[in-house]
Amino acid sequence: MSVTIIVGAQFGDEGKGKIVDYISTQMDMVVRFQGGDNAGHTVSNEKGSFKLHIVPCGIFKSDCKALAGTGMVVNPDELLKELNELKDKGVSIDNFFISSRAVILMPYHIELDTLSEASGRTGIGTTKRGIGYAYADKARRNALRFEDLLDIDYCIKRITTILPTINAELVAKGGKNTSENELISKLRYWAKVLKNRIVEPVSFVNNALARGERLLFEGQLGAMKDIDLGIYPYVTSSNPVAAYAAVSGGFPISNISEIIGVLKVLSSTVGTGPFPTEIHGSEAELLRGTGENIDDEFGARTGRARRVGWLDLPVIKYATTINGFTSLAICKIDKLDDCPELKVCVAYKLNGKTIDYMPITRELEKVEPVYITVPGWMTSTRSIRSFDELPENAKKYIELIETATKVPVKYIGIGPARSELIIR
Ligand code: GDP
Ligand code: IMO
Ligand code: MG
Repeated sequence: MSVTIIVGAQFGDEGKGKIVDYISTQMDMVVRFQGGDNAGHTVSNEKGSFKLHIVPCGIFKSDCKALAGTGMVVNPDELLKELNELKDKGVSIDNFFISSRAVILMPYHIELDTLSEASGRTGIGTTKRGIGYAYADKARRNALRFEDLLDIDYCIKRITTILPTINAELVAKGGKNTSENELISKLRYWAKVLKNRIVEPVSFVNNALARGERLLFEGQLGAMKDIDLGIYPYVTSSNPVAAYAAVSGGFPISNISEIIGVLKVLSSTVGTGPFPTEIHGSEAELLRGTGENIDDEFGARTGRARRVGWLDLPVIKYATTINGFTSLAICKIDKLDDCPELKVCVAYKLNGKTIDYMPITRELEKVEPVYITVPGWMTSTRSIRSFDELPENAKKYIELIETATKVPVKYIGIGPARSELIIR
């Protein structure tokens, strides 16, 4: 029982990077289990400040293996860029590996995603990183995987079979044909520079478990953006819920000992779709910040201003139900230090009636949040390092979440840095 899973309990950007960075100091392996470089996980530690997109946030512990897992769709150019940036900042990347079963996200996936978004027909507001198209190719068995790079002749045969379908789609969307020769050169290059990092993931993970190693599975995005259980169609194309860690990792679920849900004191979302507790106007601007500080609410991947909203307990309760959290991590308590009072959504009303379930997307767009107002604490929490020292109203705010979810809050973020964390 040595698998810990860390996932987002809201709409993404909850502070997973910060919590993974801290907990990975106790781990032997960290695995990113889904998504691709649509993720932006911010880490601030003794090595500097980083926004990681593909590489797991456990990379900073030099004796911790970091695996880009099977459930991911990985753009090799972005991966190489990220690895070089880490190396340039003095971070060892010797322990970075990639699952042979992970999908290679191709330049044409990005092109297709960009053309779709530009057409205005999807209205999702994706990160334009090609994520949906890479997963679509995986589902229709039209994708290349990293294992294919280990046999370049086979790889070339596959791409020449696949490319006519892709080119027809590109042209139909108003794009240009992908050059086969250029793509083959890229594949040869990726094979050369990445082959030593490609591992057979099932034995890699299960052998580590058999040796008694501690493994951490890092999710991307959050519960509400899960393709099956989130606000479809305004979701990503993978499963950010904890259960998917076992599918992606290829290990028996009986190994899971801890599932940590990360949430932040105010919700945020990027892109379109229902967001019941959204705050607008100058109040939102104040809470979002200007983008100058590392912890302002601007996309770590796209730089887009995030939509911000009050704490939404129905969302967190729903995330708890579908993930089975054993503990919670709450980030950004310090961001509320100057708020005299706070609104918390405790239920939704649909057509005038209080509901006790998460409604389908079209109904979620119509719900009326039921708020309570609680007093703030109007004092800085940044230097506090124990739960007992927190102001009474901050404790009450945290306890409100514990009462709603029946899950203990074990980690409390009071600043962006690794050290700015209260462990309970
Ligand atoms: P992720 O995608 O879940 O890893 O989250 P992001 O990195 O996209 O967004 C979380 C933001 O909150 C980043 O700017 C972090 O630096 C910041 N952050 C995380 N925890 C805390 C905290 O406890 N206090 C403050 N002030 N900022 C935090
Ligand atoms: P982390 O891991 C916030 C959003 C996009 C869009 C939807 C689908 O840092 O929390 P996609 O590019 O995945 O096809 O876009 O999902 N989105 C994110 N929002 N944080 C992220 O990652 C996101 N990754 C995707 O804005 O609404
Ligand atoms: Mg993020």
